[in-house]
Amino acid sequence: MIEKAIEALKNGEFVLIYDFADREGETDFAIRSDLITPAHIREMRKDAGGLICTSIHAKAAEKMGLPFASDALKMTNVAEKEGDIPYDKSNHSSFSLWVNHRDTFTGVTDIDRALTANKLSEHVKHAMNGGALDFSSEFRTPGHMATLRANEQLLDKRRGQTELSIALAEIGGINPCITICEMLDDNTGRALTKADAMKYAEKKGLVFIGGAEIVEYWENNKVY
Ligand code: 5RP
Ligand code: CA
Repeated sequence: MIEKAIEALKNGEFVLIYDFADREGETDFAIRSDLITPAHIREMRKDAGGLICTSIHAKAAEKMGLPFASDALKMTNVAEKEGDIPYDKSNHSSFSLWVNHRDTFTGVTDIDRALTANKLSEHVKHAMNGGALDFSSEFRTPGHMATLRANEQLLDKRRGQTELSIALAEIGGINPCITICEMLDDNTGRALTKADAMKYAEKKGLVFIGGAEIVEYWENNKVY
């Protein structure tokens, strides 16, 4: 399945990534950010329904000046601290800043969010190649796209959809800037179950892959 997942990601299709039964137990849509269109954003909000976020490789996030939100918010008394996240043993969530590209209007529309994702991908590509673009001249915060900062050691240290999606990109030689969104259940008020996410994948002809398979491949073929 990993080859199919890489192929689909390369082709700009959605890949459905389930993490682990003993973690969130959630499935996220994942798609490369450079090929996102407004129609993809629409599909994410209507069929997945969770929060649309863009995962970014740690090296690029560092160069772009995207800190963990919990670090940026330390001066407040509400910043999350170790142990706050019940489903993850790492110190904090992967949330970084919420951004809009400066050419957006409100930032929330399908067109605006697709533009922000596309432009984030351009910056990640430059940053990964050692180049520098002026992030602040093109983006503003707060905005409507949540950015996620992957752990520097990816799946060796943290196994969220942030790291699973970036590891999959790294394995496939794809720019490590992937937009993701959790699948929620309209009827139960909960996350969509793994079984229902698999049914959806089958119906739509999408690749469904579990975190365990990505981790197993990662452990034998690490790419940093
Ligand atoms: C942002 C989240 C999601 O769970 C997303 O899947 C990324 O988080 P993680 O890397 O912890 O799985 O919290 O909506
Ligand atoms: Ca998740």
